[in-house]
Amino acid sequence: MAKCSILSYLHLSWRAILRDRAVSQGYWINPPEENQLYRYFGSVNAGKRSQYLVGLINKYADKNDHIFELGCNVGRNLSYLINAGFDNVSGLEINPRAAKVAKFVLQKPIICGALEDKIDEVPQFDIVFTMAVMMHIHPSSIDFIERLIKKSRKLVITIEDETSDRARSFAKDYLKIARKCEFDQVQKDNHLPGLNNRYVARVFEKRT
Ligand SMILES: C[S@@+](CC[C@H](N)C(=O)[O-])C[C@H]1O[C@@H](n2cnc3c(N)ncnc32)[C@H](O)[C@@H]1O
Repeated sequence: MAKCSILSYLHLSWRAILRDRAVSQGYWINPPEENQLYRYFGSVNAGKRSQYLVGLINKYADKNDHIFELGCNVGRNLSYLINAGFDNVSGLEINPRAAKVAKFVLQKPIICGALEDKIDEVPQFDIVFTMAVMMHIHPSSIDFIERLIKKSRKLVITIEDETSDRARSFAKDYLKIARKCEFDQVQKDNHLPGLNNRYVARVFEKRT
């Protein structure tokens, strides 16, 4: 019995450590093999995801809108947008090597650092999107997500795993968060190209 409770205590503590904000950020600053930069350049599935994103943005945006990506990594999504004629793009990335590559390849403003540390440096924009990023932002940082959303003049797009809740992956209610920031949902897609079925895409428009 005692052995059992010690084991469950150790298990709970380990889970708590893995779910700590600093640990989560540390993972992304210097990720292991499974999230190394080369994985973000352009597999077939990654290309499908970026293409889907371009379709969404084409539907709602003007070509001169300022589009901001939280967690842009090496800049694949932004490069697809530039190729589609959206030249006014910028981003933020916690991984310094990924941010450096994105900046060099795109020649666009890329802020390097954690959302939680850099929120004051993020300019106002027309559209913000995230793809598999807000799910990794620690629950204690929800107010930073809200501050980011409030910088958008027009649109917020989330493409996130909304159900996994484990180490470094924190399920969130994006509809609730967006509504609190005065954005209303105008589109919701399931079964997204290049992503598993836990991912949902949502488009929110600023309330007028
Ligand atoms: C799963 S990757 C997705 C990358 C890119 N959005 C894509 O679709 O290819 C998650 C990205 O979010 C970044 N990230 C994680 N936590 C972050 C934070 N607190 N602030 C800024 N970026 C963060 C990671 O470094 C990584 O580039």
